[in-house]
Amino acid sequence: MGRISLRKLLYKKDVAPVLHGIINAIGSSVTIEDAGGAVLLTANDDAAKTSRSPVTVSGDIIGWVIGDGKTAPIASMIAYLAGMESERRNLADETLNKYKEINLLYNMAEKVSSCLDPGEVAKLVIDETKKFIDGSGTSLKLLNEETGELETITSCGNECNAHTTAAPDKGIEGSIFTTGKAEIVNDVLADPRYVAGENKVSSMICAPLKIKDKVIGTIKISSENPINYTAEHLKLLNTIASQAAAAIENARLYDELKEAFFTTVYTLAETIEKRDPYTGGHTKRVMEYSLAIGRVLALSEEDMTRLKLSAILHDIGKIGVKDSVLLKAGKLTDEEFDEIKRHAVYGEEILAHIKQLKNIIPGVKYHHEKYNGKGYPDGLKEEEIDITARIIAVADSFDAMTSSRPYREGLSLDIAFEELRKHAGTQFDPDVVTAFFAADVIEAFFEANARGKFFS
Ligand SMILES: [Fe+2]
Repeated sequence: MGRISLRKLLYKKDVAPVLHGIINAIGSSVTIEDAGGAVLLTANDDAAKTSRSPVTVSGDIIGWVIGDGKTAPIASMIAYLAGMESERRNLADETLNKYKEINLLYNMAEKVSSCLDPGEVAKLVIDETKKFIDGSGTSLKLLNEETGELETITSCGNECNAHTTAAPDKGIEGSIFTTGKAEIVNDVLADPRYVAGENKVSSMICAPLKIKDKVIGTIKISSENPINYTAEHLKLLNTIASQAAAAIENARLYDELKEAFFTTVYTLAETIEKRDPYTGGHTKRVMEYSLAIGRVLALSEEDMTRLKLSAILHDIGKIGVKDSVLLKAGKLTDEEFDEIKRHAVYGEEILAHIKQLKNIIPGVKYHHEKYNGKGYPDGLKEEEIDITARIIAVADSFDAMTSSRPYREGLSLDIAFEELRKHAGTQFDPDVVTAFFAADVIEAFFEANARGKFFS
């Protein structure tokens, strides 16, 4: 509650005339002082003063009315007006605080619901919570299903000093996790559940993160100096916790879905690769080289995802090429070579049926285009060729050159490098070739393909 200024109250335009009217009607000598003894009003000062009546609001003396026996009711009247003023102010403060709270909650809900990374959601929640509830540290923990421990996902302030993992059945936070009930602990060290290793704070407030009835973690605010957290704080933290839990679960499900999607796509590519066992591991290597180049070129997150998927599925069209042609060991006739070339367009035809994969068609269809326009299927050149296709072209050729086939030994690394340099600007985008050499591709080469074929 803000302290009421007696001076302001006495001189309010609807109070001052009434007060003066009463004083004149009584005819007594009256002096009104504030709590510190400063004189705020004096009337009929010639008469004797025999009494001092306090002006009290909510138990606090905010001033004095000094006069004779008849002036005591003036103190009561001023106290009544001050009480009303105080109540009005409290109500206004409460309304304002509620408005701020709703506004912050709304902003938080909007931010976290559009975020699809569990770690980022946790960080956002912590940042927003600090705006609602005072404390010197905040943390968010989630249960790691594999280790069975509560793991700190994000923390700030004094909560950074706490252990990063905790047993879900020990300590105050563990107990809140187990019971699933939010709690205020205003004297942490005196709590019998406190265990060594828990943060040595004075007060804390902690709520479980729940999805339906399942507790997935906790959110905690603590203070090194004593704070009297209230039921109002607890209610607020519970609201934040339920929003946070829903957003984190959402982000986790999205992650799982994304992983399942990539696994499905990868399995599909591997199944196709199995038709030609001599290319074993080709898809994985092309993907790794492509991503390494993409990182050097600082592609956007969206382009990196497109690059990854189109690198995995770049030869999916080979599914439409006859085994007799695809697996032929000897030299191909012109017709057979034309049939092989068709795999680029077959790839487009297959992917056109899958809504989620339509945006990778350029990477798949054009991975055999050449920078000078002499490639296939459309003879596109330079920037007309999608960046993902220009990258896959380099990665695919590099792997084809360095892989051994039954009818030929793969080239050594330095000869393959030389080939890339020689064809930069004609077959390959020169910037992509430069990025290839700047990328950690050689390391990826060793990791992906330990064939013992190093420099000749
Ligand atoms: Fe291809």
